[in-house]
Amino acid sequence: MVAAARLRTERLILDPAKAEDLDEIFEIARDRKSIEDFQSAAERIEDVRAWFDPSLEDPLNLVWIIRKDGRAIGLFDLYFEAEYSQTQGHVCRIGYFVSHREHRKGYATEALAAVAEWVFGETQTTRIEAGVTLRNAASFRVLEKVGFVREKVARGNWAWRGKVYDSAYYCLTKGCSGAPDRNPDSEQRHPRDHRPG
Ligand SMILES: CC(C)(COP(=O)(O)OP(=O)(O)OC[C@H]1O[C@@H](n2cnc3c(N)ncnc32)[C@H](O)[C@@H]1OP(=O)(O)O)[C@@H](O)C(=O)NCCC(=O)NCCS
Repeated sequence: MVAAARLRTERLILDPAKAEDLDEIFEIARDRKSIEDFQSAAERIEDVRAWFDPSLEDPLNLVWIIRKDGRAIGLFDLYFEAEYSQTQGHVCRIGYFVSHREHRKGYATEALAAVAEWVFGETQTTRIEAGVTLRNAASFRVLEKVGFVREKVARGNWAWRGKVYDSAYYCLTKGCSGAPDRNPDSEQRHPRDHRPG
């Protein structure tokens, strides 16, 4: 089992989450604009504690606090579990949010690029998966800028605050920047081989 490491980018530090980070994360997450599409609403600190605390105990779930000049500006969540492919053990899925006050400054892209590099360099993972609601153009851009490719659209599989949404699924595979491996002899199968239904 691998533990999250501190990651540095040009402008950010990603610190493995600790229990003491909860208050700072709540301050960001309580504003719906900062976590829409990431999790359920976080009206009270208990709402955030319910998804934040278990991740601190679960070795399959790595969480980083995204910091700028020492201040938390967002969160990055990684789960060593496939969202819809068949390559369990070598797959993880991700989620992230950035405070709405810090949007459009390139921070999510910078954080994702650092996490992807660390995951492929330091773990057995060969495939990173992400699911995004079809209305979330900002998140599509973040994924695409780091080289993720869209694999499928799933109709009506995501509910948030009583409404149902369609999702797009993206992946990044090791050694492939925006271009999944098409060599049939490759050890790594083409991600589209795993597309269900
Ligand atoms: C998605 C999110 C993490 C992006 O964070 P960010 O730090 O603003 O992202 P970046 O600045 O690195 O990049 C955002 C890109 O999306 C683009 N963008 C932002 N809002 C957009 C919109 N409404 N429509 C189209 N593109 C948009 C930006 O222009 C930028 O692309 P560019 O560099 O080509 O101009 C942030 O909006 C967020 O936290 N949203 C709420 C939670 C969430 O949706 N998480 C993802 C769940 S999958």
